[in-house]
Amino acid sequence: MILGATGVVGQTSKTDPTKSNPDTRAIMDTLIDSFAEVLPLSFDMKEFSSKKSKQTILKSLKKLKDNANILEQHGKIKDKNFGFVAKSLESDANNVYRWFEKGYYDEAKFTLHNMTENCIACHSSLPETAKFPKPERFLSKINLQNLPALDKAHYLTMSRQFDEALAAYETVFNDPEIQPANLIALGSFTQYMKLSISVKSDFNRPQKLLLNIADRPKTPRHVRMLVLKWNKQLETYEKSAPFGQITLPSIRKTIEAGKLEMEFPKDRDGLIHYVTANAMLNRYVNGNPSTSTDMAEAYYLMGVTESLLGHSFWISRQDFYLETAIRLAPGSDFSPKAYALLEESLVSGFTGSAGTNIPDDVSLLLNDLKTLIDNAKKEKS
Ligand code: HEC
Repeated sequence: MILGATGVVGQTSKTDPTKSNPDTRAIMDTLIDSFAEVLPLSFDMKEFSSKKSKQTILKSLKKLKDNANILEQHGKIKDKNFGFVAKSLESDANNVYRWFEKGYYDEAKFTLHNMTENCIACHSSLPETAKFPKPERFLSKINLQNLPALDKAHYLTMSRQFDEALAAYETVFNDPEIQPANLIALGSFTQYMKLSISVKSDFNRPQKLLLNIADRPKTPRHVRMLVLKWNKQLETYEKSAPFGQITLPSIRKTIEAGKLEMEFPKDRDGLIHYVTANAMLNRYVNGNPSTSTDMAEAYYLMGVTESLLGHSFWISRQDFYLETAIRLAPGSDFSPKAYALLEESLVSGFTGSAGTNIPDDVSLLLNDLKTLIDNAKKEKS
């Protein structure tokens, strides 16, 4: 049972992801303000680590940490996905504060810059709610024009200037100097598709870019075939409008379509299907604290799509989704599959040239989940 915002127990209704939420917005407004105070300073290490600025920066970092904590509390009445990212942001903000307080300025800066991946994880999963005015205070302090184009796109997404972010990506991808084969392998290419499809619900915009890439004389044949395939997928979704009525069967169908396109486990032919399925799933779970088997399956499928699309080395949601799916429905058909994918992901993370070295807490977690699944199976039979 979840205590909803209104104090009503057992809130299970789904919130409309395209509608603005005044509470979330108010928190974001203060969050970006405290961010605007410290981020510019962190670009100048001399200033960032100077005795003179220490108290001022510490005060701003405290504000950032407090605001992240408010967001984390707010996340408790949302869905598990929102809650997870909010918690990750809070943990980062606490770490930044602690590093900085102790005088570990490089570590503080590294964490501060990477914690923006949390902002982006949330902002690129759900449809744009409203056109927010540009956060002038933030933008005036960060001179975006001086940043490399992909960093510019990063900070534009962070501050929800989505149209500008898409344009920044297109400038990079349309640059004839960039090798098309390298370009489509970039995580930022997937990020661009997520912004267009998930945030803008726009299947049309990327088509022009893909046709441009296909038309370049230097584009290798296999890349041309791939981008034309993606283009077809976009055309099909533009007609079928998959966000109209989102149900579990319609999500499963979208993922199946992606699987059918793929000849090898990790090839990229199904990209548009998976980005679309991921967008449908985020809309499906948004604001829904239900713990039903359907919701568990949605988290399992999110784990599957995330395993193919995730590219942030800082925040990975795949393992969390898979664990959530198993805990919510250990006796389901999909829980052994979720377990297999989770085990593969965790074990590969700890395998290197010196063999496999799984930390105790990870083996405990895997054992715990395995027991849950085994017990549920025994109960059923
Ligand atoms: C847990 C999810 C989540 C995280 C993490 C997150 N945001 Fe947001 N943010 C949202 C949502 C959802 C909205 C849209 C609110 C609405 O319209 O209901 C939003 C809106 C905003 C806005 C527009 C608010 C306005 O009224 O102008 C800004 C600016 C913003 N976020 C900045 C940030 C920054 C900076 C970070 C990271 C330090 C961040 N957000 C982290 C979910 C998140």
